[in-house]
Amino acid sequence: MTDRYLGFANSNLGRRLVDALGLPQPAPLERWSAGRLRPVEGALVLGGGPLANRVETIAARLTDELYSFAGDGLQAQPWVAGLGPKLKAVVFDASHLSDSDQLCQLREFFQPLLRSLAPSAHVVILGRAPESLSDPLASVAQRALEGFSRSLGKELRNGATAQLLYVSEEADEQLEGALRFFLSPKSAFISGQVLRLQGCASQVQDWTRPLAGRRALVTGAARGIGAAIAQTLARDGAEVILLDVPQARQDLEALAARLGGRALALDICASDAAEQLLAGLPEGIDIVVHNAGITRDKTLANMTPDYWDAVMAVNLKAPQVLTQALLDAGALGDNARIILLASVSGIAGNRGQSNYAASKAGLIGLAQAWAPILASRGASINAVAPGFIETHMTASMPMGLREAGRRLSSLGQGGRPEDVAEAVAWLSQPGSGAVTGQALRVCGQALMGA
Ligand SMILES: NC(=O)c1ccc[n+]([C@@H]2O[C@H](COP(=O)([O-])OP(=O)(O)OC[C@H]3O[C@@H](n4cnc5c(N)ncnc54)[C@H](O)[C@@H]3O)[C@@H](O)[C@H]2O)c1
Repeated sequence: MTDRYLGFANSNLGRRLVDALGLPQPAPLERWSAGRLRPVEGALVLGGGPLANRVETIAARLTDELYSFAGDGLQAQPWVAGLGPKLKAVVFDASHLSDSDQLCQLREFFQPLLRSLAPSAHVVILGRAPESLSDPLASVAQRALEGFSRSLGKELRNGATAQLLYVSEEADEQLEGALRFFLSPKSAFISGQVLRLQGCASQVQDWTRPLAGRRALVTGAARGIGAAIAQTLARDGAEVILLDVPQARQDLEALAARLGGRALALDICASDAAEQLLAGLPEGIDIVVHNAGITRDKTLANMTPDYWDAVMAVNLKAPQVLTQALLDAGALGDNARIILLASVSGIAGNRGQSNYAASKAGLIGLAQAWAPILASRGASINAVAPGFIETHMTASMPMGLREAGRRLSSLGQGGRPEDVAEAVAWLSQPGSGAVTGQALRVCGQALMGA
């Protein structure tokens, strides 16, 4: 569905009117375009502690315009405020900040840069997970980065985003994959997120086809977010198996044929769903995306048992049963990647969605609980929690709620199915085993549950 306000606010007349009335000013977001090679097209500035040196060694693969700022021992040419080019990407290593007095380095680094950011610029702050540090003062300083980075996300303008990555000492090798994602337009609709990266034995071999040789199953793939996920995984080199209800067979088969994949018409709640699924995956599976989901909204006072049960069965029970069946049958490949489509409703709760929010919060719990079980096989499991995404689901919302859903976020607009798909594709990569048991919000830093 088209967001007419976004178009209006960026027209000549609209810009003046919106400015005069103090209305929200969402900026058009730059998205990844087919054939693009470099994650950052423009200037990347790098600074801060020792991880900045590590980033410098891979920076030539991220951009061909590298600058340093307030970073000790960096080779890159210095960026000077007021003289240097507009910045498309910023990386600040804050992992060395070991007490609260040193937090002023955040202000000293970022303040001079803020007026020099290009549209849709991406900022990444690196730190060490507070719980991994034995020194309480250092732990406090590192925890403070969360409040800083989330506030920065809320202050940035013009489609810019900010994230915080807590990188463990073993995760140096995983930085490239994470920076390729968070500094590029693939993460256009993600801001204010905090993720932890651990070590991971498997690596991407070819960045132009990071999922080559991997077989991926996507449930609910006939339309909306699921269709976008299947397309994006296929773009990245995966062989895709698209699953949806038998009623959607025609759309499913057409898309599968277009993507050179296979269709599996199957209701994931059928009593023999696990048997049918295993029969449809004789060679096993490397990537499983549990995307099929439904809403049956009513306030709790009016919630009927069938509304409650239907949502639980599709959204929560089926992913548990099918994942367990794949594990028991030995059908999950080594280094498997499992991604569960949760929702910001599952984090914040939502009026009229007690069933849906419970099912989606349950999925986040599923990722947390299963991550240690799967880790011994090199496998990871994560939840992706979309906020307001322009699909059939949100087009049918009442107008007032729809407008609120779009505007009440730092980016001031809804996301697109491909924004969610890019996050899923990144978490599906071999090197993304560095992230497990976590929930990544794709919500434009929605105020809901923030
Ligand atoms: N659209 C949003 O703004 C939004 C926000 C947060 C989370 N999500 C989640 O993202 C996922 C995809 O959402 P969407 O907007 O693309 O929804 P959608 O309704 O457009 O598509 C869902 C797909 O799942 C399939 N499906 C439903 N029940 C099934 C079953 N029993 N067996 C097999 N397939 C089944 C449907 O046929 C459909 O093709 C869902 O899990 C949803 O809860 C969406």
